[in-house]
Amino acid sequence: MALLLSLSGGNQAMAWILLLHLPTACLQAGNSAGSNRLNAFGVNQPANLSGVQGGSIEIPFSFYFPWELAEDPQMRIFWRWKHFHGEFIYNSSSGFIHEHFKNRLILTWTQPQTSGVLRILDLKEKDQTGYFCRVLLNTREGMKGLQSIAGTQLTITHGISTTMQSPSIITSAVTTAGLEDTEGQRNPSLVNLGAMVGVVLATAVLITPICVLMIFLWRKKR
Ligand SMILES: *[C@@H]1O[C@H](CO)[C@@H](O)[C@H](O)[C@H]1NC(C)=O
Ligand SMILES: *[C@@H]1O[C@H](CO)[C@@H](O)[C@H](O)[C@H]1NC(C)=O
Repeated sequence: MALLLSLSGGNQAMAWILLLHLPTACLQAGNSAGSNRLNAFGVNQPANLSGVQGGSIEIPFSFYFPWELAEDPQMRIFWRWKHFHGEFIYNSSSGFIHEHFKNRLILTWTQPQTSGVLRILDLKEKDQTGYFCRVLLNTREGMKGLQSIAGTQLTITHGISTTMQSPSIITSAVTTAGLEDTEGQRNPSLVNLGAMVGVVLATAVLITPICVLMIFLWRKKR
């Protein structure tokens, strides 16, 4: 009797667990790309983004894969535009940037990160199209390629001059840096350096009055 009770109790618990897991199972079955979570791989990026002509935009991306990376993973990021098999506009291994985007693309990503950001500066009307992130990995099972199927559809709007002012300042600062360094890949570190100098300056500005006050109080005490 006691055994029967505990059994039915156990079954009930199992039924609950099944019920709790049902929505997740349905969700996974509904997601065609991820129907088999163990073998899932892909690239995530926003479906739609909108930018202002003359401004800049950030396309975040992240990727996931089931394979174990090789000792030298040789991770590479590429970007295509217009459609899934469209022309390459960016190649992280050669630092190639399509002529149309000269001095206007910055990829913030370093191996072995599985996410990053592509920035497009000084947006043009012709930039309104799809952008597809492609990832190449050296795994223990050989080279593997992943690419976003839907990509990001970028819409360019015509803004008012006041909203365009701050992005154009950033743009000019970065393009000058880009002129000195054709690889373009080093640009993020230059930007980071700028940010670091800013932080150091801000810290100095904050600390100086405190030091002055402390010296003043110390002198007063004596
Ligand atoms: C993206 O935009 C298209 C058309 O502009 C629209 O049909 C679609 O629903 C949008 N997708 C998302 C996820 O917002
Ligand atoms: C990217 O650049 C590397 C090195 O120059 C080259 O071997 C490779 O074919 C390029 N890939 C694409 C997709 O353009």
